[in-house]
Amino acid sequence: MSGSEADRRIPNQHARTRSRMSIDEKTSKTLKDLGAKSPEAIGELFAGVTSALESERKALIASGAGDERERSQKVKDLRDRWLARKGGLVSLIDENWLKKAPKELKPAVGRAFNQLRQLAKCVDTESLLRELSGGAAAAQPAAVAATRGARPSAKQGRLDLTLPGYRQPLGSIHPVTQVMREIEDIFLGLGFSIESGPEIESVYYNFDALNIPESHPARDDWDTLYVNSETVLRTHTSPVQIRAMEKHGAPLYILCPGKAYRHDNPDSTHATMFHQVEGLAVDTDISFADLKGTLDYFARKFFGDKIKTNFTPSFFPFTEPSGELSISCVFCGGGGCRICKDSGWIEVMGCGMVHPEVLRHGGIDPERYSGWAFGLGVERFAMMKYDINDIQLFHQGDVRFLEQF
Ligand code: FA5
Repeated sequence: MSGSEADRRIPNQHARTRSRMSIDEKTSKTLKDLGAKSPEAIGELFAGVTSALESERKALIASGAGDERERSQKVKDLRDRWLARKGGLVSLIDENWLKKAPKELKPAVGRAFNQLRQLAKCVDTESLLRELSGGAAAAQPAAVAATRGARPSAKQGRLDLTLPGYRQPLGSIHPVTQVMREIEDIFLGLGFSIESGPEIESVYYNFDALNIPESHPARDDWDTLYVNSETVLRTHTSPVQIRAMEKHGAPLYILCPGKAYRHDNPDSTHATMFHQVEGLAVDTDISFADLKGTLDYFARKFFGDKIKTNFTPSFFPFTEPSGELSISCVFCGGGGCRICKDSGWIEVMGCGMVHPEVLRHGGIDPERYSGWAFGLGVERFAMMKYDINDIQLFHQGDVRFLEQF
């Protein structure tokens, strides 16, 4: 016999020997001992295991329920045989096949093992008891009774194409995104367009160009996360003002939604990552009256017609004069409550007339153009809109919270 003929025959011998072995014998050996050297041989081995799993499960169900003690014992025996941590068949396969698999076969063995682990859930105590007591699942093949991810592969020859598909749960739009889109829609309706900028920003755009030089004490107002001495995680969306002025010049009506980062201690109203929306209007003859009119219109559109607005003086290095917009308390209607600290008002955003120096940094002539700007916190708006008392809930990814929106 030539060498190549022998090579061709050896795998067949292995396959024949394997097929004569019981499942217990096979799982006590390594893949090498079993002569399984190809993904096909692995597929065949696992198909044998799933078929044994299925027939043992069916045999138990066919043997009938018996009295409660007998039933519990049978269930325990089958469950332990397959799922016991020590000596269970699934554990043995993990130990002897998966962990000892040669590197090139690991992915195929890993995939098949994961599938088996899912399928083997059909012999856990709960599933078996349900089936023995004639639950709806009793008539289903193991592959269906097992969890959703446990679909057997077509290769294993056990896929029933007549079964209805599994409906994947649909997600919903995150409340912060919903609020951001609502704000965008209002300003798009006023003729604004959307701009964006980098979240990893240079110190120049985040501070210097916004009239906050290194020595300026206002830099301390923002607890900044530095990437290196010239780069920060942007502390606000205001740097997009400069980038947009440089890019488009005047006139300019833009909205910049996006993430901002601060080294703030997390509490019920502060997060280290949060979302802001920046607004900027630059044109000839823009006055503080335009700012007031626009923000009053926006607040009523967003919070409802009953809302009143109030502007109070404030300070930002990039606006002069600067202001803070407050709205009548959405929780008590302005009468005074715990949330508005009995004032009847809630501060919702910073705003002001763009500082001439900032226009200059953006390449716009402050003698010819003027502008207004504002910046608001989206999570805080969402908290007011949906009556949520803890900002952290937005960022925890808890489906029970998110599916309410
Ligand atoms: C600013 O960030 C200015 N850039 C806003 C601005 C733009 C003023 C243009 C004038 C002209 P301030 O630091 O107040 O301002 O932040 C704006 C909003 O971001 C706050 O009102 C608040 O709603 C939100 N905010 C600030 N820090 C946090 C935080 N740690 N977590 C959640 N929201 C925050």
